[in-house]
Amino acid sequence: MKRLYLYGLIAVAMCATTAHAEGDKTRGRQLVYTCQGCHGVPGYSNVYPSYHVPHIAGQNEQYIVNALKDYQKGFAAPGTGRRHPTMGAQAESLSDRDIADIAAYLSSLAK
Ligand code: HEC
Repeated sequence: MKRLYLYGLIAVAMCATTAHAEGDKTRGRQLVYTCQGCHGVPGYSNVYPSYHVPHIAGQNEQYIVNALKDYQKGFAAPGTGRRHPTMGAQAESLSDRDIADIAAYLSSLAK
């Protein structure tokens, strides 16, 4: 009995680790709240319909991770990564985990 309980705990721990590595969509959904004003995730209204912003909903997960890390790089050290003051400031406030969760959520959406 005790042994079964232990296996159960290990299984739960392994699940939790996997979920983290893949990014937590539920958490990502909360995090993209601040992105929606500009990027207009479907199901939410776009505050600036005339402002040119690339679509990120349904984008490839790794692409989103790379893009955000590049903006972070360009913000921290101009001349490297992607240079864009607005997105740089956005990306700068995100942790690696935030980025993974955001990418998991956005890539799960329909284009
Ligand atoms: C103030 C408006 C604004 C906000 C808020 C904003 N973005 Fe952006 N985002 C932009 C603009 C403008 C670009 C295009 C920048 C460029 O030309 O490199 C962009 C580009 C991107 C790209 C690259 C897209 C591509 O096709 O290469 C990603 C990914 C992205 N944003 C994610 C996010 C995420 C995630 C958030 C929220 C944490 C966010 N953005 C918040 C305006 C915004």
